[in-house]
Amino acid sequence: MANKSFSFKIIPEIIFGRGAVEKVGQESRKRGGSKILLISDEGVAKAGLLEKVRQSLFKEKLEVIVFDKVEPEPWVETADEAGKMARQENCNLVIGLGGGSAMDVAKAASVLATNEGKASDYQGLDKVPEPGLPKIMIPTTAGTGSEVTFTAVLSNKEPKGKGGINSPYLFPELAILDPLLTLSMPPPVTASIGMDALTHAIEAYTSLQASTISDALALKATELIAHNLSQAVADGQNADARENMLMGSLLAGMALANAGVTAAHALAYPLGGLYRIGHGVANGLMLPYIMEFNLESSLKKFAKIAEAMGEETRDLPLKEAAKRSVIAVNKLSREIKVPRRLRELKAGIAESNFPEMVTSAMKVTRPLENNPRKLAEEDAMAIYKLAF
Ligand SMILES: [Fe+2]
Repeated sequence: MANKSFSFKIIPEIIFGRGAVEKVGQESRKRGGSKILLISDEGVAKAGLLEKVRQSLFKEKLEVIVFDKVEPEPWVETADEAGKMARQENCNLVIGLGGGSAMDVAKAASVLATNEGKASDYQGLDKVPEPGLPKIMIPTTAGTGSEVTFTAVLSNKEPKGKGGINSPYLFPELAILDPLLTLSMPPPVTASIGMDALTHAIEAYTSLQASTISDALALKATELIAHNLSQAVADGQNADARENMLMGSLLAGMALANAGVTAAHALAYPLGGLYRIGHGVANGLMLPYIMEFNLESSLKKFAKIAEAMGEETRDLPLKEAAKRSVIAVNKLSREIKVPRRLRELKAGIAESNFPEMVTSAMKVTRPLENNPRKLAEEDAMAIYKLAF
């Protein structure tokens, strides 16, 4: 692709490595933290990871307030509550520890602590008036990539759905990635969140907003995820596979923060917003159908994806090589046993729900605008039918 003009945004610092979490105390102090709001969830606390972070903060004699009530697909009210806590307790630094949900709530809380409005006032693009508290993200899954993005996705009850707060003030000052924190992730979570990371990589790579920088990150991410996800699912204690997955998810996150995502995320959105299907499950399910739809628009890129995923493509005509990318994704989904059809989901989605899903998906305009092939309402309907 020609190098059209673009800007590329990344967070100021990333610390990566086994045992890296032990540095969180020092790093918080360095960034002016004295009273820390530590945002996490019950699962992370039960796995003993919250205590690890707390110990490092105590070592530096920092005061710690814990908010561990983040639920999956968190509500706007949860972010409001966390932001209120940061304000009331006069916290001066926020740490998000967990998967995308905990990190998104932490990112939102950091700006809600310094801005007057509610989380729902800021859903949209560039609506946050003032910078937030400094924030450090520590993912325990691989991953949503939330540790390096400027988005916090939150659920709304009225009207029912999901919406992101998208603001440069949500970029964390630091991400600490410690693969050892991801060892306790159970296989189904590893599988579905890993598929989210793969979706980020493939969608950022094929997005109309892609640049040479995001392409380099996305392609390497695709390779790392494709070669390590099955191993991480089969044996959670495989530290090499876990480390490669965390790196893959990080690179995919950086690519997506700049190139955006495309139609798989748009068509997955209603599954989460209307039926509370997990983000990773929804994306992993939609991904191969969207790839199939997009194939013709970008044969070269899909052939590169196939190659990065380990498919033998050298002697194949371009179109055949490109098709191998879809075959590779389907093979991987089967191996790691993620749902591959809408009818398999426990939410009980029926074909009669499709019109509502299509209407909802078509409102996810930015990913649809990034899609390499124009996707109209009737295409969305046809894709849901294929995926049923
Ligand atoms: Fe995602």
